[in-house]
Parts: sequence; C-alpha cells; structure tokens
Amino acid sequence: MTTQPPAGDPTATEAWSVLTDLARSLSTTTIRDLSEGNSERPAMLTREAAGIHADFSRQRVTADVMNSLLSLADERGVLAWRDRMLSGEHINITENRAVLHAALRAPVGVPLEVDGQDVASDVHDVLDRMSAFADAVRSGAWLGATGERIAAVVNIGIGGSDLGPAMAYQALRHDSDRDITFRFVSNVDPTDISEAVRDLDPATTLFIVASKTFTTLETMTNAQTARSWLVAALGEAAVSRHFVAVSTNAEKVSAFGIDTANMFGFWDWVGGRYSMDSAIGLSTMIAIGSTGFRDLLAGFHAMDTHFATAAPQNNVPLIMGLIAVWNRNFLGIETTAVLPYSQYLSRFPAYLQQLTMESNGKSVRLDGAPVTYETGAIFWGEPGTNGQHSFYQLLHQGTSTVSSDVIVVARSDNPVGDMQPMLVANALAQASVLALGRTAAEVAADGTPDALVPHKVMPGNRPVSLLMVERLDAFTLGALVALYEHSVFVQGAIWGIDSFDQWGVELGKKVAMGILGELTGSAPASFDASTDHSIALYRSLA
Ligand code: F6P
Repeated sequence: MTTQPPAGDPTATEAWSVLTDLARSLSTTTIRDLSEGNSERPAMLTREAAGIHADFSRQRVTADVMNSLLSLADERGVLAWRDRMLSGEHINITENRAVLHAALRAPVGVPLEVDGQDVASDVHDVLDRMSAFADAVRSGAWLGATGERIAAVVNIGIGGSDLGPAMAYQALRHDSDRDITFRFVSNVDPTDISEAVRDLDPATTLFIVASKTFTTLETMTNAQTARSWLVAALGEAAVSRHFVAVSTNAEKVSAFGIDTANMFGFWDWVGGRYSMDSAIGLSTMIAIGSTGFRDLLAGFHAMDTHFATAAPQNNVPLIMGLIAVWNRNFLGIETTAVLPYSQYLSRFPAYLQQLTMESNGKSVRLDGAPVTYETGAIFWGEPGTNGQHSFYQLLHQGTSTVSSDVIVVARSDNPVGDMQPMLVANALAQASVLALGRTAAEVAADGTPDALVPHKVMPGNRPVSLLMVERLDAFTLGALVALYEHSVFVQGAIWGIDSFDQWGVELGKKVAMGILGELTGSAPASFDASTDHSIALYRSLA
C-alpha cells in the first residue's frame, strides 16, 4: 500500500508567500523589539506537553507568523500525513515501508494491524521477552558460562543501534543498576572495542550485538572481535551465555553463531534512528529495569498522544517543527545548537544529530523533483556550561546566526550546595543574552571605555527555544525524544521529503569496501588521483 505524500512544492502554497512577506516586513524587527513591554509574550508562547514546558517566546515570531505557520501546516496536510503514519500506511515512500515507531510504545490493548501483521501483540511479545531477560540479568538468574553473574554489558552497534542506547544510559544513569558496568562500542577503529574490554572479565561480560540489518560492517567486525576475545578465554561453548542479538534478521544472527532463542526482534517499520524504544533498548532495560523501561515508553506514548490529539495551536511538536521551518526557510538560519544544561544529557546532541540530519538532510522531494528551498538544519551541541567556555563566543557575536535549543532540568538528582541554581542561572542568562543581546547604550552605561563599546555589544536576535522539565526521569526522557521525533516529522512533511530513508549514507560504504580491497591486497584497484595519493601516503606511514 503506497500513499500520496503532501503534494508538490511547499513554496507554491499561499501560506509560504504570506510567510515570505512577513519575514520581509520583520527584517528589522528584533526579538528584543517583540519582547520589550510585552509581559504577556512568554505565557502566550509557552506550551506544555507530557511534562515538557516549551517556551518559544525567545523565537523571532509574532502572532501573525504563528498563524501563518499553522496555515502552512494545513495547506501541506501535515496532520493528515501524521494520521497516515500512525495508522501504518507506507509513508516511507522510497523504501515502501510503514513508519510505526509510535506503535513501539502503545500500551497493551491498543490494537493495530498493518499489512496483515498484528503489530500490537508482536510489540508486546518482544517487550515481555526483553523484560524476562533483563530481569534475569539484573537478578543474577542469568549466569555466564562459568556460573558467574553478569557484571558488564557491552552494546555493540552503530548509528541508531548505538546512539539511542548510549544516550539513554547516560541520561538515566542515576536510576541505573550500579552493580553493572555499561559500555558502548560503535567505531570500527580497533581502539574502540579494545579499550571497551581491556579491564573486563570475559566470564562476567555480556555482549549485545545490536544491528537492524545484521550486515553493518562496523558492528559485525566489532562483534567478531568480541567473540574472539571471549572464545580465547572461555571457549566456543561459552558464546551462547555471553552473546545476545537485537535484529530484524534472524538468518544472519544464526549464521553469526548466536542462538535465535537469544535474539530480540523488531521490524522493518522501525527506522534505525527511531529504534531506541524497540529491542535496541535492551541495554537500557538492563540498566534501568523493565519497570523503568515501561516508564520510558509511557513518556514516549504521552507525547505521541499529545501529537495525535492536541489542537494545532497547542500541539508542541507541531509548533516546534513549524518554528524550525520558519527559522530555516524564512530567516535563513542554517544551524541549531542543542544546549542541554544537564550532564546526564551530554550525549543528547549526538543522538539528535542522527535523528534530525539523517532524517531531513535531503534535497529531493517525495515526487522525485529537486527541492528549490532549504531543508534540514545542521544540529550540533554540547552540554552547558561547557559550551559557554568554548563556542558560545560565535553564538553571541559571530557573523552566522545560530538558533539554540536550551534544555533545563529543574531538579538535580545530585544536589550540592548552590550548584544546581548556578547551572540554571547560566542557562537562563545565556537564553536571555542570545535573544535580547546588549545595546551600545547599555554597554556604555556600564562605564565601558568608548573604544571597547563596539567589542562588547551583543547583537542578540538569536532565536532560542527553552525546554524545561522537572526531573530527568525515564518518562521525561521518552517524552523529550518523542517531541524531537515528531518535530522532525513535521518539518519533513512541510518540505515534502522522505524523512525515513537514508540513501545518502550508502555510497560511502560501498566505496570504502573497494578501497579496503586495495589496502588489504584482496582486490587491488585504483581510484581517483587524490584517493590513490592518500593510499600511497598511508602506506608510507603505516
Ligand atoms: O548507515 C546508516 C545506518 O543505516 C543508520 O540508519 C542505522 O541506524 C545504522 O546505519 C546502523 O544500522 P544497523 O542497525 O542495521 O546496523
């Protein structure tokens, strides 16, 4: 079953023209102009969903802009497209697949049948098997080959099979089982696996080989290396007690030598970057327990329900996605900095890089025509306050305008003196200075010498979304990730691109295999002049 996508060219809509005019008429109006004397603005531009308070008052938007963005969503059929996604239609057109990550977190009893598959019961069967396994590892009922308890879990995967689990482990570490060490191996650089296992005991180590396809070069190579490390210490027979797999590919899992009884499956309608709440989250479940994992799913589901049912003007993912479109297409902003003021969220920017850029880094529309407008912004970031002492100088005074998502967790799990208020004060200060800046008159009024005034002026007018949550627990993390997933969906629907394929990463993999043949001598070949030159240099240095 294929589905008609949001039709044609978004720039041909009436709302796009209105927004273009609005951007022109606002070209000399700053966020400061919009904010000063408007004490109602923060309340008017703040929305709450699933415990996330999203304050868009530091964005360069007016009521007219917001209304026109909602009209754009309407003209593009974004909500109808959302409904088609949620009902299991094949909205991933280029791969002819359904896009059903929301089904991974639907509670028991919500029926969903897609392409003849009872999706709802399949999801809960896998969740139950995962829970039984995770509980057994945590309780010590699952033992290694020599009868010892598991003390270290190593997740081997890359991209969506690594970034979500690695980010979630770091985010929820406070609520994790501290008797188990968790490591995440992704890079084909031999250093990654070597450093991950060097202080581990094979007898107490469990490897999770996480790969949707079970063909990914990096993951398969790391998994073979881990297998050799284990077999050298404990013998072949130990493999089944120390290796489990998470994959959609039972045949390849079995060929690797992992008992499919210890394989946790998922389906082709779960995209890699949308999979941290599928069986790919097995390491997360072992870390925080099956109850904690169900809380994570509940948070995702709460945001899904909000996205599916909230009125457009209150729908946080819709609004967030539309503001991203405004910034990208009408204000010409190319990059978004993700600035979590939470050490636990230190891997969140890396996670979002894949979610946003692999999804919306496209330049061809669903109908095959090249886009004539900008699509996905570049996402990057670092936790505050570290970023402040690094790249914020450019954010404040550089020649590029960067929009920022500042994420604040109100309650610390590790309160020490005034450290948490200090952290929050920094977040709020940065959000304010980025948006409002500091004029020459204000700088001069501080007694700054005239010659220094231009250097200390802060232009401001850098748009900021401030997302605040009470505590970073599993529920909140799920809601936060779902918020970004759906915001990405909204942007892709406006742009009329396929947010769920990733053809752009394939060619590099193929070319690498050709070069590997030359480097190992198994299939000598020559390439373009620069590549041949680099190969010769590598050989002379290796
Ligand atoms: O190379 C990109 C990609 O296909 C991602 O989309 C995916 O998350 C990652 O590789 C890993 O794929 P797999 O889970 O199949 O090993």
